Amino acid sequence: MKTYKIAVIPGDGIGKEVVPEGLRVLESAGRRFEMNFSFRHFDWSCETYAKTGKMMPDDGLAQLRPFDAIFLGAVGYPGVPDHISLWGLLIPIRRGFEQYVNLRPVRLLEGIESPLKNVRPGQIDFCVVRENNEGEYSDVGGRIFRGTDEEMAMQQSIFTRRGVDRILRYAFELARTRKSHVTSATKSNGIIHTMPFWDERFHAMAQEFPDVRTDQYHIDILTAHFVRHPDWFDVVVGSNLFGDILSDLGPAVAGSIGIAPSANMNPERKYPSMFEPVHGSAPDIAGKGIANPIGQIWSGAMMLRHFGEAHAADAVERAIEEVLAQPEFRTPDVGGKATTETVGKAIARRLDK
Ligand code: NAI
Ligand code: MG
Repeated sequence: MKTYKIAVIPGDGIGKEVVPEGLRVLESAGRRFEMNFSFRHFDWSCETYAKTGKMMPDDGLAQLRPFDAIFLGAVGYPGVPDHISLWGLLIPIRRGFEQYVNLRPVRLLEGIESPLKNVRPGQIDFCVVRENNEGEYSDVGGRIFRGTDEEMAMQQSIFTRRGVDRILRYAFELARTRKSHVTSATKSNGIIHTMPFWDERFHAMAQEFPDVRTDQYHIDILTAHFVRHPDWFDVVVGSNLFGDILSDLGPAVAGSIGIAPSANMNPERKYPSMFEPVHGSAPDIAGKGIANPIGQIWSGAMMLRHFGEAHAADAVERAIEEVLAQPEFRTPDVGGKATTETVGKAIARRLDK
């Protein structure tokens, strides 16, 4: 029997509440589909930062390297600035392990009400593919003349042919497994160096995939189309910044942020990939036991798919849909009264059957 070694980082706030439900469902999937998991927990979090001054130890990446994947809850807590939790843990892992694909599926499920009028389950079903390693989120730049009238800040965007091509290629290949349609997010009218370069590479890549339909929109009107015509999209690819924005907007039109999953992937499998819900640590509801665990559980399904366990991944996704369709298994964010644990257990039970 195959054993997958998983590094588990629950993190902060509701991360600590939803991760156990994610693990519970993985265990059930393992029983049903004959896989073993060996989970090792790491207490890297803002709490650890408060004690040690570090989100993770200096050799953190070396400790994670031997694992097949990383299963993360969320990090961030009042009292620790968000750039510390982000640059102290998430970004080093995403960059150090070349997790250059951030994949976020957006699907409107039965039982979830979209904030949009007149959309039904099935009408929203697309994926946002975000470049996760370079682009606008770079630490190249600086500030001079601090505190004076001459003060100046500068931040460089980095777009490399290698970095752009590999994310575009991933998007086109993904589209071939779906509805064979890729939409590119651009802004080449305003950002006149990097974005025309992005567009050029997009057109070059499209030549290699003549069977895939393509279109592109400037990011401003694209956000409007997400709201007005979410049924237009199949795979949407964007730079780090545009992808970040779209990958929050997408889940928002499909209902609660509490159900949205994501994967930070190194498709070449040279390094472990990391699976985490889209949401953060939600300090406003932490400790109450009412966080929706579905984003975490669905991220587990993405991890199974990455391992090549497609049947198990499909079964988990089906169990999520079946459970959500029953009002008694909905947490307050999706209009119910259920607890985190009730929902996790209901999904796990479906898999055991
Ligand atoms: P958030 O996603 O934690 O919360 C936004 C709102 O959605 C809150 O009202 C929260 O109660 C609700 N919510 C989120 N997840 C939910 C769930 N599973 N079930 C029910 N309701 C849920 O975003 P926010 O408030 O901007 O950030 C809080 C902290 O989390 C910050 O420190 C931030 O830096 C961090 N964060 C971490 C992320 C990560 O680890 N990848 C991602 C986003 C934020
Ligand atoms: Mg974001």
